[in-house]
Amino acid sequence: MSRYVVLLGTQWGDEGKGKIVDLLTEKADAVVRFQGGHNAGHTLVINGIKTVLHLVPSGAMRPEVECLIGNGVVVNVEQLLKEVRELEEIGICIRDRLMVSPACPLIMPHHIALDIAREAARGEGAIGTTGRGIGPCYEDKVARRGLRLADLMRPDLFAEKLRSVMEYHNFALERYFGAEKVDYRQTLDQAMEQKEMISDLIDDVSTRLYRLRRQGRSVMFEGAQGMLLDVDHGTYPYVTSSNTTAAAAAVGSGIGPLELDHVLGIVKAYTTRVGSGPFPTELFDRVGRHLGDRGHEFGATTGRPRRCGWLDIVALRRTAQVCGLSALCVTKLDVMDGLETVRICTRYELDAQEVDLPPYGAEAMARCRPVYEELPGWERSTAGARSFDELPANARAYLDRMSELCELPVDIVSTGAERDDTIILRHPFD
Ligand code: GDP
Ligand code: IMO
Ligand code: MG
Repeated sequence: MSRYVVLLGTQWGDEGKGKIVDLLTEKADAVVRFQGGHNAGHTLVINGIKTVLHLVPSGAMRPEVECLIGNGVVVNVEQLLKEVRELEEIGICIRDRLMVSPACPLIMPHHIALDIAREAARGEGAIGTTGRGIGPCYEDKVARRGLRLADLMRPDLFAEKLRSVMEYHNFALERYFGAEKVDYRQTLDQAMEQKEMISDLIDDVSTRLYRLRRQGRSVMFEGAQGMLLDVDHGTYPYVTSSNTTAAAAAVGSGIGPLELDHVLGIVKAYTTRVGSGPFPTELFDRVGRHLGDRGHEFGATTGRPRRCGWLDIVALRRTAQVCGLSALCVTKLDVMDGLETVRICTRYELDAQEVDLPPYGAEAMARCRPVYEELPGWERSTAGARSFDELPANARAYLDRMSELCELPVDIVSTGAERDDTIILRHPFD
């Protein structure tokens, strides 16, 4: 039976998507990335060996699995080639099963310079981006002046387009931001060098997916970031510049929306956020430190400490709604081991009223105060548990309550970073 399964972050990213994609693709034929870029950092731990992927899909460690990068992904070619090389160095040959869409927008050095200059100019109001040039690259795409992977194959045209777009951006860099401009010649030479190494990876991802479907194969669509960072539905403007919702899987890979069979939402048992922006359940106390320390909550891309807080069901309700979630996968349950009591935010108080769903926009969200429900913690550790029965009764009660409040089944529970420290109650490819 063919299954096209979307896997998404339901919060502000770093829910453990990489680990779960790697695990579940034991039963898939291909993995596709469909949005974002190397702002993502997806961690896999297999037999104690940790690998962090930024652009290469998390099916990389399984030799039989095809890795596709869809048109919705913004590609920094240098980063992609670096990741391919690093995988080769640890004995993972990916070139023969990696395919990148010719429609992918290219992240160029001026995008990175603009990202950094804009953040600096925002001062206190900075978004806290990853500084990878993601926003400026998507802007160029929508403004219809961006360069795409396919353009690399027409060097003369590429040089011409690059000159014009760089003139425009260098003007802003120098005259508006007072920053240094980016050298055209050097940028062009570097792009032409990269062209030689990337050209045989470029192919029609949309058609590949269409064929896989007709052959009855199973495909995993690997989301990056999380729903609350979605440019439309997230905590705007403290968001990323792509759609991170389930529908983006179709647009960003080139398939019809009805091809998607199942949407699995990955949710941390608590909440974290990297960068700025409202976070109603954020903790600044001992519990916050417990979660950060035990969960090793440091960004996999930038190394920044992640802000930590209680689980937020209000925000999750929005995710379930806009993504049409089929089921939940709860990760990092073990990080909550040792807490005497645990809390779940079930409603917000906003302007003296209680609300069940988060308001749109950062300004209103920043005024929301969490209303909590308290549950007893669990004395016994859940770390490394591989069956539901191994979990202490209070941990099971916490999961049951989550499931009830979200009105969704919990199909998978993760109890450690290691691939196999997982409880699978229902496999999405079965
Ligand atoms: P992603 O961006 O959603 O793929 O998540 P990241 O890789 O950025 O961050 C998740 C972190 O938690 C990584 O360091 C994982 O190795 C780790 N991790 C994933 N699942 C679990 C789990 O169930 N328990 C613990 N303790 N760590 C986990
Ligand atoms: P994964 O896939 C967590 C955050 C940044 C910043 C905002 C905008 O590993 O879950 P950007 O560079 O995208 O313009 O930054 O989005 N952000 C992430 N936070 N996990 C990620 O990816 C993120 N990618 C971007 O910290 O707040
Ligand atoms: Mg991450």
